Amino acid sequence: MTGNSQRKYRADYRPPIYLIDTVDLDFDIRDGVIRVTARHSVRRNPQVIGEGDRWWLDGRELRLLSIAVDDEPVADAALEITATGLWLDGLPDRFTLTVVTEIDPERNLSLEGLYRSGTILCTQCEATGFSRITYFPDRPDVMSRYTTRVEADAARYPVLLSNGNCIESGEADHGRHYAVYDDPFAKPCYLFALVAGDLGVIRDTFTTASGRAVALRVYTKHGNEDQCHHAMASLKDAMAWDEATYGLEYDLDSFVIVAVGSFNMGAMENKSLNIFNTACIFAHQNTATDGDFARVRDVVAHEYFHNYTGNRVTCRDWFQLSLKEGLTVYREHQFAIDHGSPGVTRIEQVRMIRDVQFPEDAGPRAHPVRPESYVEMNNFYTITVYEKGAELIRMMARMAGRDAFTTAVKHYLDKHDGQAVTIDDFVAAVEESTGLDLAQFRHWYGFAGTPRLRVVSRYDDGRLTLEMAQATPATPGQKSKPNFDIPVSVALFDDAGRVVREPEIVRLDKQRDTFVFEALDQAPTVSVLRGLTAPVRLEFDQNEAALVRLMAHDSDPVSRWDAAQSLYMATLKVAVSAHRNAGPMPELGAGVIEAIATLVADPPEDRALLAEMLSLPSATQIGEAFEAIDVAAVEAGRRHVKRRIAVRFETELWALVDAHAPRGDYVFDRDAAGRRRVFATALDYLAGLNTPAIRERAREVFERADNMTDRMAALNALQDLPGEDRDAVRAAFAHRFADYPLVMDKWLRLTAATEDGDAVARVRDLLGDARFDFTNPNRVRALIGGFVRGNPLAFHREDGAGYRLVADEILRLDSLNPQLAAALAGLLAPWRRYAEPYASGMRDALARIGAAELSDNTREIVEAGLGEAA
Ligand code: PHE
Ligand code: ZN
Repeated sequence: MTGNSQRKYRADYRPPIYLIDTVDLDFDIRDGVIRVTARHSVRRNPQVIGEGDRWWLDGRELRLLSIAVDDEPVADAALEITATGLWLDGLPDRFTLTVVTEIDPERNLSLEGLYRSGTILCTQCEATGFSRITYFPDRPDVMSRYTTRVEADAARYPVLLSNGNCIESGEADHGRHYAVYDDPFAKPCYLFALVAGDLGVIRDTFTTASGRAVALRVYTKHGNEDQCHHAMASLKDAMAWDEATYGLEYDLDSFVIVAVGSFNMGAMENKSLNIFNTACIFAHQNTATDGDFARVRDVVAHEYFHNYTGNRVTCRDWFQLSLKEGLTVYREHQFAIDHGSPGVTRIEQVRMIRDVQFPEDAGPRAHPVRPESYVEMNNFYTITVYEKGAELIRMMARMAGRDAFTTAVKHYLDKHDGQAVTIDDFVAAVEESTGLDLAQFRHWYGFAGTPRLRVVSRYDDGRLTLEMAQATPATPGQKSKPNFDIPVSVALFDDAGRVVREPEIVRLDKQRDTFVFEALDQAPTVSVLRGLTAPVRLEFDQNEAALVRLMAHDSDPVSRWDAAQSLYMATLKVAVSAHRNAGPMPELGAGVIEAIATLVADPPEDRALLAEMLSLPSATQIGEAFEAIDVAAVEAGRRHVKRRIAVRFETELWALVDAHAPRGDYVFDRDAAGRRRVFATALDYLAGLNTPAIRERAREVFERADNMTDRMAALNALQDLPGEDRDAVRAAFAHRFADYPLVMDKWLRLTAATEDGDAVARVRDLLGDARFDFTNPNRVRALIGGFVRGNPLAFHREDGAGYRLVADEILRLDSLNPQLAAALAGLLAPWRRYAEPYASGMRDALARIGAAELSDNTREIVEAGLGEAA
């Protein structure tokens, strides 16, 4: 490892020797430099005895001007400064620490600490960005009350914000002004925030259940206010939902959101001052799709929910990240389910787990939901910590029952209010409140890897036997795995699709077990792991007839969809293998034809569900089904099946297009969005036929559309149909939305994902285009991420040009924004999963990155990728 990297271990946790009761910050914002004066009241932690009087403060990229204990400058002999912080020696039991530092936000492109996004100065402190602002014990178990004074030029920075209540503001000399904020809740430093800029605002009020008025504001660059109303409405919705569902009322008099263009993640839950990526705030029908509207709604809710699950009760150390993220994602999921189509919302979650989390858990970066060690914490904001973490919560909620679980969450929040705690504390609180025994369940937190659940069913003489067995593959650093406590939901149906056994949960907590269902009249159709009751891979051989029945009749929409996925998958696997072995490509099987015919003849009321049930598993999902991923074969196989479906059901698909064509004004609601989804799905199938009729239709949809969802449906349909229609539509799009960077991200994605021509050369050109900005993560993700994910054939080009392109950009980015560079390196890391020549090409690109001088972030990912197989 280069630099100052040190691997940190969960087992090494020690409580802080000193606690900080109050933090007084003063930010003096000048051109090119910000002076930060910090005064802390410090005392020894009474819980820690005999640990000496030496104290470590984190600090990076800071210019230390002075440091004093009880206003006496610290003597050189009592001070040891390193590149990552400083040691103080010979401290009294109680003292005031004063630290004056200077920081330079102009040179900070890492988007951590205090940085500039356009004309806005803002902060990002999670996980350890606060130590780029001042010397401080940058760990979440030090909780303090903050007062913050900000002073800046009044014309350039008319808006000055920090956490809590504004208790004073006024003019200062030379056209400057100031504001003082007081946050009454003790918080860890990762929740600190500050914003200064010239901002537009929209305002609203929320009256809490107990009748308090909370002032709500959403700030953004001037001129974008009209794109913030959906976010504001979503915030109010989330506040009401948390009161109604968990009895949790907002605890301050104001709640502020600031949207900035340059942000590494989606958003950040700083106490009463959330800072968001514009991509998770802006939503206007002209510029945002239904998907964007839903994401804004859910991310706004997610950050708001953190006010309790994360802020009022926080994490003891970063190994516990899923304590706040898993639980908050779970709450966000519940909220989403209450606001959209419940079935389809769950389907989207399941797809996310299977398409993204399972591969992570099977690759070089597999780690437990509660990791054991890390080099760079920023590398652990993963789908495993977030989404698998949420699945673990969901399993507990299932076992307890939703109401009992809600009570348990409230008990946890009461018991630990104002504390920094662990995942074990949470699980213990759930046990106390619900009476569940979660001793074995806890393994889910400590062990990585996706368990495989094998189910074999036998029927004789009125009795059904389900044999279940579990096995979990080794993951890096964890050779053997315990048996997990796996809740498996089971329901039985007869041939006509009637329920003969209501859904029930059986628990597999041994390596294998048998479950018997008696007194049946006929061999039933078995439905297991309904709605993914546990994050496991199901291995259950079901015949086509059974899947067709489940697809048509299962009482759970998620299971109907899942049956469709299994049916499609069987055909897709045959097609992929055929291509790989240069054999004849298969026709559609009778089962798939019957299933789709039934589906379109008698579609579910929920239109989004129809769209989901018509959609094939993703390429990732198909690749997952093979020992080694053959990218070209997966693409060819998927295209083949998609085209066969379009040919066989051309009439029905046109009927769907006509029946769901845009009409009336745009509204974002369950039904309208569902209709648009069916429309887009059918259009996309038909595009595979590349007829003049479909090209014309797509162009017409684009020209008439009053919203971005339909426009994108048209653009997507034309994506692989080079020619005059596509060129015209794309040019019109680029022209009309040239001033909307988030829309131009969609254009960058489309352009990067275009297969005809030399995509690698095209992306290299775009890197130099004025519409691209290397320092903005949204642009980088759109262009590079869009290329890797959206254009598999170009990224995996056999001559390695795609890998070289991505490696070049990672190397260029690493010194500016290591967090983002590391995320991109993660795209090359799972090379072992691929067939040749892909695997060698990816590995070589990774090795070339590894040969350079790198940030800790990227180094950690690259070394995991190049390390020993599990
Ligand atoms: N805590 C943020 C969330 O709500 C994510 C985040 C992590 C944002 C680190 C910025 C930096 O999920
Ligand atoms: Zn979160």
